Amino acid sequence: MLELSSIAVDHGSQRALWDVSLEVGERELVGLLGANGAGKSTTLGAIIGLYPVAAGSVRYSGEEIGSRSTSRNVAAGISLVPEGRRLFGEMQVEENLAMGAYAPAARPGVARGLERVYALFPILAQKRRQNAGELSGGQQQMVAIGRALMSNPKLLLLDEPFIGVAPMLVEEILRVLRDIAAGGVTMLLVEQNIHRALDFVERAYVIENGRTVLEGTREALVGNPEFNNKFLGLD
Ligand SMILES: Nc1ncnc2c1ncn2[C@@H]1O[C@H](COP(=O)(O)OP(=O)(O)OP(=O)(O)O)[C@@H](O)[C@H]1O
Ligand SMILES: [Mg+2]
Repeated sequence: MLELSSIAVDHGSQRALWDVSLEVGERELVGLLGANGAGKSTTLGAIIGLYPVAAGSVRYSGEEIGSRSTSRNVAAGISLVPEGRRLFGEMQVEENLAMGAYAPAARPGVARGLERVYALFPILAQKRRQNAGELSGGQQQMVAIGRALMSNPKLLLLDEPFIGVAPMLVEEILRVLRDIAAGGVTMLLVEQNIHRALDFVERAYVIENGRTVLEGTREALVGNPEFNNKFLGLD
């Protein structure tokens, strides 16, 4: 479904990604793990078209998308839950959710999209008229995930969705993400909490200094001494 081959990405004159390769199959749950500044967010940004790809290729559903706009990628079924949620705190929950359906193709489906999000996160239905900034961290994360679902994605990119979320709500959000995955949505999850990530995904990549350096199934990674050395003490 998604294939990155040796991509490079620059932030201004600074190279952030040097050589990132990864593949995500249809309906797969894949992790992207790595330390602060390794290039995880930049990789997700390059996939959805926030950053142009300076070298290498990004293919999605058989098409080269390395220089395609974000709106085209969203219309094609890619959606991002950005790092730090990026909500409009002074706007209502429902207004924030509706922002996720800005693509012309998604607009007729706003009512249906809201219904789906409220069914997944009933607390958001109760708080639909409240300003997003008044919600707890976990509830705000639900809004960010809900907004990403409004475009009815086939591939959901999640950038550290559990930061600032209370443990009870982490469990609830994980349950909902599993439901969404069971409904056929493919996911690429960026996480710094290795145990939590490996609980959720089937396979993961490790990124270091802008390069993918390790890849494997959950079992293979857990049994790999190199992986254990890298992440010992990181959690
Ligand atoms: N908008 C930007 N402008 C300039 N440099 C940036 C920008 N965003 C990221 N960088 C740099 O690119 C590199 C990769 O950053 P990135 O945010 O992708 O890492 P990350 O793995 O997501 O880190 P974190 O775990 O802290 O979120 C870092 O050196 C970072 O300082
Ligand atoms: Mg990041």
